[in-house]
Amino acid sequence: MKAMSAKNFLIPFLTAALILGGGFSPLHAAVDAKKLYKKTCKKCHGKRGEGKKEKKNPGKFKYNPVNDVEEQKLLEEMLKYKLMWEEKTFENSREKKMAKSVRKLSEEEMKILASFIPTLGKQE
Ligand code: HEC
Repeated sequence: MKAMSAKNFLIPFLTAALILGGGFSPLHAAVDAKKLYKKTCKKCHGKRGEGKKEKKNPGKFKYNPVNDVEEQKLLEEMLKYKLMWEEKTFENSREKKMAKSVRKLSEEEMKILASFIPTLGKQE
């Protein structure tokens, strides 16, 4: 074991630290959250989470605003819709659309999104 370098020696510790610590800085998470939001939510809930109004029915939302929803509730909604997808318990095309959109998100990704989305309404 004489040839074992310091780097090799450190790898198990670094791996454990990554797993335990989540492995990302807040800055990194912010960048990922933005990308993730763009990729998975923006087309329906809007660039700033402002939702989409119905063209034919002014005042009514085609897709609800999400930037005024609290972090905890956002997380619950995503979990709810993901479960809905897995159990095929959505009851209409609206629920199905939303369920399909969150079906691939991990819990970690949902947490990142839930803490990021409420900041959308506050950005200039
Ligand atoms: C394909 C369109 C679509 C995409 C993409 C989508 N949603 Fe939705 N979302 C909907 C629809 C439609 C509803 C309303 C469902 C209903 O009326 O039952 C909804 C409802 C919600 C609600 C509940 C709002 C409320 O006021 O109760 C939240 C929160 C939400 N979406 C968050 C998200 C997040 C976060 C993402 C990205 C991970 C996302 N949505 C992606 C279509 C979408």
